[in-house]
Amino acid sequence: MLMGGLHPPNPMSGNSDKIDDLRRRKSKSQSGGGQNRISAQHAKGKMTARERIEQMLDPDSFSEVDALVEHRCRDFDMDRNVIPGDGVVCGHGTIDGRLIYCFAQDFTVYGGSLGEMHGLKICKILDMAVKTGAPVIGLNDSGGARIQEGVASLGSYAEIFFRNVRSSGVIPQISVIMGPCAGGAVYSPAITDFVIMVEDTSHMFITGPEVIKTVTNEEVGFEELGGASTHATKSGVTHFTAKDDEGALEIVRDLVGLIPSNNLQKAPVSESNDPLDRKCESLDSLVPEDPSIPYDILEVIEEVLDSRSFLEIQDGFAPNIIIGLGRLGGQSIGVVANQPMHLAGCLDIDASVKAARFVRFCDAFNIPLLTFVDVPGFLPGASQEWGGIIRHGAKLLYAFAEATVPKLTVITRKAYGGAYDVMSSKHIRGDYNIAWPTAELAVMGAEGAVQIIHRRRIANSRNPEQERERLVDDYEEAFANPYKAAALGYIDDVVMPSETRAVLVKALGAILEKEEPRPEKKHGNIPL
Ligand code: HXC
Repeated sequence: MLMGGLHPPNPMSGNSDKIDDLRRRKSKSQSGGGQNRISAQHAKGKMTARERIEQMLDPDSFSEVDALVEHRCRDFDMDRNVIPGDGVVCGHGTIDGRLIYCFAQDFTVYGGSLGEMHGLKICKILDMAVKTGAPVIGLNDSGGARIQEGVASLGSYAEIFFRNVRSSGVIPQISVIMGPCAGGAVYSPAITDFVIMVEDTSHMFITGPEVIKTVTNEEVGFEELGGASTHATKSGVTHFTAKDDEGALEIVRDLVGLIPSNNLQKAPVSESNDPLDRKCESLDSLVPEDPSIPYDILEVIEEVLDSRSFLEIQDGFAPNIIIGLGRLGGQSIGVVANQPMHLAGCLDIDASVKAARFVRFCDAFNIPLLTFVDVPGFLPGASQEWGGIIRHGAKLLYAFAEATVPKLTVITRKAYGGAYDVMSSKHIRGDYNIAWPTAELAVMGAEGAVQIIHRRRIANSRNPEQERERLVDDYEEAFANPYKAAALGYIDDVVMPSETRAVLVKALGAILEKEEPRPEKKHGNIPL
């Protein structure tokens, strides 16, 4: 008998019960909705939540948090079906040795639906990620708000949205859509920095096909309405698509390798095996003599950046502008480039919005920007004007002007009109702006300009066609070159295309540590 009347613990009886109890609880949590539902998940070509986490993280690096959380709903007989973990697997682990926080919704438990506690588990992960300055990755596979839990479910959603917004620009947030993601549930991924969708098995929409049919009589299938390819090409909601779960998780790992863990860190640098002064011979003959003939700006990007380092983002949406992350001399860098192969590289509404958000991401996370310019202007047309090209185009202008990260700009050919100013020009604080000898910096192209300033002269001439051609030649001689801008210091140098990589590597080294304070403010008022 011990003091206070306590018996010493008997290791063979009471505690072993407790240990068994813990094992039972953990095992129930781990098996989710049971083997039948797991098999159904596999039959759809989908991995389970735990398999996905294992696949995404470094081997054996995952530590689970809140495996024993339970819902506390007492309606609809819910108290008879309590599964520890409540349909979402949460925790932390590493990717290439770097800490990340993650959650994976478990479709085998109430269809991955988000109830009060399920949502609060995700909130805890988002809070931990911010406290520790680590990226957060959400693997979404859910029937949306848990119907039985009503407003408690909506409350938890809003708690998540609030945290997504508060963390925006503080830690990178990545959403992978690996099943349904419907209704208001789409708004968490929409706020995060990157969305990755799996082809055929993931769908995102605010209202599904049945509701649409009831309300508008419009008939549209799941895939066409909100499948991966729809969001990759039509809406621009997703940044990447993957053939299967493995492919999507591989993209997460690639992406994490190119971005810092939080907004106080510098962008990652790695050893470059590609010679820093490598000549890009093929670029000297890439730009066609005829300015109306396109060429592929992707060739320029791939030639200039470190070999095989470029990860294109949103490649199926607004292809007239290319965005992506890559490395230059080992330094992680964001690339924005007009693509002459589509719409002659014009800026339209979608291209402006696509590039503007990317520029803001890079600026928020200290990733230098490299901009390639070949832009004949903003896309003309009533549909663009009525769609608001004025305010959407202004977003890109605003984003570049606001960005204080090191900014490199290369003008390869056309830099016309307002689009010249917008595309990271010197005037909106490009740090190092260069041009190729093929560059043309002007208010507009020769044909259009001559038509406006010499209309009367051409009309009154004895041979209008000959006169027009002569005036176009004169204009081209005067403006279709980079030397007027170079004389004014608007570009820092004119370089041979083949020298571009070597010049940019040096320039980046020279501006990497720049500081560019701006007036204190709560936040600006970007034209949304
Ligand atoms: C509770 C749900 C659920 C939900 C699915 N389940 N969705 N339980 N709340 N929202 C359960 C099902 O009852 C079923 O349970 C299991 O999950 C699998 O569902 P199935 O229908 O058998 O699977 P499948 O045929 O693959 O269809 C998946 C689905 C469909 C497309 C997601 O279940 C569906 O349409 N669900 C409802 C979607 C929805 O309307 N959600 C609310 C959106 S509004 P058993 O026990 O049979 O395995 C919203 C508001 C958010 O989310 C607001 C935030 C601001």
